[in-house]
Amino acid sequence: MKEKLLALQEAALAELAQADTQQALNDLRVKYMGKKGALTEVLRGMGALSAEERPVIGQVANEVRAAIERMLEQKTAELERLETERRLAAETIDVTLPGRSPAIGAVHPLSKVIREVEDIFIGMGYTIAEGPELEHDYYNFEALNLPKNHPARDMQDSFYITEELLMRTHTSPVQVRTMERMKGAVPVKIICPGRVYRRDDDDATHSHVFTQIEGLVIDEHIRMSDLKGTLLQFAQEMFGKDTKIRMRPSFFPFTEPSAEVDVSCVMCGGVGCRVCKHTGWLEILGSGMVHPRVLEMAGYDPAKYSGFAFGMGVERIAMLKYGIDDIRHFYMNDLRFLKQFARI
Ligand code: PHE
Repeated sequence: MKEKLLALQEAALAELAQADTQQALNDLRVKYMGKKGALTEVLRGMGALSAEERPVIGQVANEVRAAIERMLEQKTAELERLETERRLAAETIDVTLPGRSPAIGAVHPLSKVIREVEDIFIGMGYTIAEGPELEHDYYNFEALNLPKNHPARDMQDSFYITEELLMRTHTSPVQVRTMERMKGAVPVKIICPGRVYRRDDDDATHSHVFTQIEGLVIDEHIRMSDLKGTLLQFAQEMFGKDTKIRMRPSFFPFTEPSAEVDVSCVMCGGVGCRVCKHTGWLEILGSGMVHPRVLEMAGYDPAKYSGFAFGMGVERIAMLKYGIDDIRHFYMNDLRFLKQFARI
């Protein structure tokens, strides 16, 4: 019986040494120490032993049980330690890894320029006005002294939706809408940014949709010198304090007199370069004194009130300011282009 016990111990210890999961250990505990286990089985035969043999075998049995239990404990501790080590290795965090930066959008260059122009004019006491992009023929042309069949309507090939409705060809109709809204009150002092539409073939400098900013001032005693001073102030805030402006006679049906306004070249400062085609000047807007008939039609007495207006192309100003060579970049939504403005 002693041999049986010792053989059992040997077998149990050998199997335990192989066990590599808690489940395997539990199974072995049941197999050897359980109620129907191998050790219990052997001990059941103890009743048949003589009185001398019994204590001797009893002691061997106790030793075998103790040896198996020690081994079980040892293996349990070892498996727990291995499990902890495995988890620690799996959950290691490299605190030196750089964080993942969130993708933050950037303001579109056209919106940037619009905001900048708005800030400059708000600083001079202007407010911002808006009008619809789908416009009545009346506001877009008629009330701006461009009656039907006026030859100047050819200057702006338009997208007509019906006989009476078109996509506005400029932001000037907002002048008329603002004067109507003000019902003869002064001062009127607004700028109006917005999209405009013309039947142009798209190329590097033309787009059938583009952006303008309109300006309108009406009060008593408004003179051409007010227009000039305002535009000089604007040009210097926009392009730098050494910027000069130049006014050239021009024609618009809704202003009289009218002037095309140039700024000294933002690239060469006026010396002459490729950008200004060696003239030293860049045309940036159209302007003039509001035509008496336009004032009259909108309910302002031209004998008492006068005003000036101007309109500029936002794309052109953005192109000059940031050195952009193709107007189509603004509408392509190419992230490589747009991302360049993230930090400006
Ligand atoms: N509306 C004109 C254009 O689109 C610009 C302009 C505005 C000229 C106001 C004079 C006064 O060309």
